[in-house]
Amino acid sequence: MTSTTRPAPTSGSGAISPRLLGDAVGVDLGKHVKAFGPLPSQHKVKRGHAGPLVAEVEASGLAGRGGGWFPTGRKMNAVVSAAGASRKDPIVVVNAMEGEPAASKDSVLVHRNPHLVLDGAVLAAQAVGSPVAYVVAHRGSRSVGTLERAVAQRTGDPVELRVLSAPARYVASEESALAHFVGEGIGLPVTVPPRVFESGVRRRPTFLSNAETFAHIALIARRGSGWFRQVGDPPQPGTMLVSVSGAVAQPGVVEVPTGTTMRQILGLAGGTTGSVAAAVTGGYGGAWVSAGAAIDLPFSVDGLRPVGGVPGAGVLAVLPTDACGLVETGRVVQWMAGQSAGQCGPCRFGLAAVSQDFAMLAGGKLKRTGLGALEKRLGIIPGRGACRHPDGVVRFAASALQVFGDEVQRHLSGQCSAGRRTFVLPVPAGKVDLPVARPGEEWR
Ligand SMILES: Cc1cc2nc3c(=O)[nH]c(=O)nc-3n(C[C@H](O)[C@H](O)[C@H](O)COP(=O)(O)O)c2cc1C
Ligand code: SF4
Repeated sequence: MTSTTRPAPTSGSGAISPRLLGDAVGVDLGKHVKAFGPLPSQHKVKRGHAGPLVAEVEASGLAGRGGGWFPTGRKMNAVVSAAGASRKDPIVVVNAMEGEPAASKDSVLVHRNPHLVLDGAVLAAQAVGSPVAYVVAHRGSRSVGTLERAVAQRTGDPVELRVLSAPARYVASEESALAHFVGEGIGLPVTVPPRVFESGVRRRPTFLSNAETFAHIALIARRGSGWFRQVGDPPQPGTMLVSVSGAVAQPGVVEVPTGTTMRQILGLAGGTTGSVAAAVTGGYGGAWVSAGAAIDLPFSVDGLRPVGGVPGAGVLAVLPTDACGLVETGRVVQWMAGQSAGQCGPCRFGLAAVSQDFAMLAGGKLKRTGLGALEKRLGIIPGRGACRHPDGVVRFAASALQVFGDEVQRHLSGQCSAGRRTFVLPVPAGKVDLPVARPGEEWR
């Protein structure tokens, strides 16, 4: 998708100024300090003790923007406690991988304000007592060069900043895989527990969060938790970046208060280009929602729950009414099945089978008994992989069967109501052989 950005919308009566994307200063540290102020100073903490910033982040209500919306302050506290119990210094990892094909928010953020992300990494590392913060992006992405240039501008940071480039694979950005890569150079997920917060990089307690989450931390450290809570949905306040794509006039990234309605978000993306049927929320591990049911709901964890949607990694991809949701889902599921690391049977073979079923359904060749088998498969795969990759694919596929229920019935009798012959959702090019091969050197 393209990388245009626009300001946050009006929420109720007043306009909201963008917090993360407003002053785009790039890698120039002088301009960054002028726009956002200097890095706030913090005292060194003893192992097992949290710096005051941790309480401030907890009070802010910041929830992780990498997909799970887990409370960030709680995660930082858990890392600090694990460091005390294990007597090991923790490690900080910034997940700037953005493996999600329908997302571009982290790369836009890194391009526009890399020092916000780096400030957040340094401040968080100090607050949990880590001597180093690793910032990891997909190998070959422009984020790697931008981050390296930005780090080169910084001198005198109280902790070491290291930029790493990991294999450009979807699953390599899952947290256990990323910690595995930083520690051992292998970007494959590992079985949990222990979770990354207690035993991650080189078995140390690891505070690993999304790049956008760190940028919010950098602003909370400067402006406080009360300021952070001034906008957004109270359970998960603040602003969020949303990557908007599909049937909109100006695809790109917008910054909005959490809980902004889908209608407002689409308005910021120039409005829809015609009538819309449905939308992908959260990403390809997220869920379809019917546009009619979701258009005026808050784009937030609680707001989207009634229609089965999720804000996830801030993805909103809109499907026009002339496109086939089952064909689109089939393409995505095939790509996602091809992203399996091939380590766990239910993921390797189960996703391959789901992909095959969806290809038949999309092509109008699946029979009613085949649909029953597909539904059964979707029920038994979740929770049986080392990581949550298969759970996300199943959620996405199951939501398609529900949201496009009428179309499923048409396809069972060999028909399809879509007129469009071009695809809407972005799916990376390349041949997908299923089931995937066992993992090899490509994960290093
Ligand atoms: C298959 C898979 C891929 C993921 N890819 C990303 C990613 O590209 N970027 C990201 O920040 N989180 C990704 N996540 C979520 C991470 O595992 C982790 O929860 C997140 O980085 C934590 O950050 P947060 O607390 O700021 O949300 C992925 C999860 C899964 C299961
Ligand atoms: S569940 Fe799938 S992606 Fe996750 S570790 Fe197992 S094989 Fe790899």
